[in-house]
Amino acid sequence: MPEADVMPSLALPETLTGSGKPVSVTRLRKTYGGVTAVDEVSMEIAAGEFVTFLGSSGSGKTTTLMMIAGFCEPDSGSIVVGGHDMTRLAPQKRGLGFVFQQYLLFPHMTVWENVAFPLQLRGVPKAELRRRVGETLEMAGLSAMARRRPRELSGGQQQRVALCRALVYRPPVILMDEPLGALDKKLRDQLQTEIKRIQRELGLTVIYVTHDQEEALVLSDRIAVMRDGRIDQFDTPQELFERPRTPFVADFLGAANFLPGQVAEQTADHILVRLDTGGLLKARPQAVPPAPKVLAAVQPGRLVLCPAGDGFCTGTVETVTYVGTLVRVTVRPDGGADTGCVRLELPAGRAPALGARVGLTADPGNVSVFADPEHGG
Ligand SMILES: Nc1ncnc2c1ncn2[C@@H]1O[C@H](COP(=O)(O)OP(=O)(O)OP(=O)(O)O)[C@@H](O)[C@H]1O
Ligand SMILES: [Mg+2]
Repeated sequence: MPEADVMPSLALPETLTGSGKPVSVTRLRKTYGGVTAVDEVSMEIAAGEFVTFLGSSGSGKTTTLMMIAGFCEPDSGSIVVGGHDMTRLAPQKRGLGFVFQQYLLFPHMTVWENVAFPLQLRGVPKAELRRRVGETLEMAGLSAMARRRPRELSGGQQQRVALCRALVYRPPVILMDEPLGALDKKLRDQLQTEIKRIQRELGLTVIYVTHDQEEALVLSDRIAVMRDGRIDQFDTPQELFERPRTPFVADFLGAANFLPGQVAEQTADHILVRLDTGGLLKARPQAVPPAPKVLAAVQPGRLVLCPAGDGFCTGTVETVTYVGTLVRVTVRPDGGADTGCVRLELPAGRAPALGARVGLTADPGNVSVFADPEHGG
């Protein structure tokens, strides 16, 4: 591949924005023996976009990423980056950057040498190399540590060095597989902010893997929610929250409440669900496959308390748990022998008393309706 393809940003002026490239994945498939790890995955990623694969363990995230990287050969399908078909290219010829969960730094080299390594491999002239390593370390706040060796750094600092090493040759696309998995919560938060800032500043395309939904929401322009080797939904965080297309997405992203009932009325501007607990819940208009039973899904943070007797259900406050500035509340609905409790998340100042009688309401825009899979949906 021509050098210009590996380091396209070299041709750009000092402002490095817009150096990312679009990625197009078409009907990727990978099986291991009888196991389908990745099943017909297709997606279009725009230049400069931050996309995350989110899903539980074994859903095919790493396998998909490894096929894009070139470390794993697909059974079928294609991968096109910046208009070039890379499906059968060796990993080092794709010009993509990687950051993995284990930092894989060279222990005998200093921070500076670790970061300079990819440029040396590519024969970048000395002056240019010094300038770029310097800039990259500066950007990651590591200038003061350039002479240390990896073992003299904290986990978060090592992870930042790994990030610098992937960024230094300005690959148009960076692939990251749970790069913050080994770090504690505070460091994760800090590095998430840094990764996002660097990605924005350089206009990089990033494809990121995590099973942590909060991390995905913080970082991503769009999230591909994966289940059993397939993409359930590929959308912006807001769309996934507000218009989940499957019960799995509603549950995985927001731990939604699923309230069983039946469709009582369906018009152009709303759906009315008669809940099993007796009340009527209004939902936004949406396509629901015909089914005898449905589930109305509402995120705990989108439920609102109202006086008992009002709203779509009335019940008794069973638990109140403070988590920082939020309070988690469970309400046992009247007339629902086996429906379980409804979970709410409220600002701490709005906590009801234990045992209080309360009503529940929700904005119809925050209510999704699905055919109940246990009743022929
Ligand atoms: N080399 C392999 N040989 C056999 N099966 C494999 C291999 N690699 C992955 N698999 C299987 O493919 C499926 C997808 O695995 P993959 O590693 O892509 O999942 P993942 O979403 O990254 O999970 P995790 O969150 O645990 O990292 C799993 O069922 C896994 O057991
Ligand atoms: Mg994985």
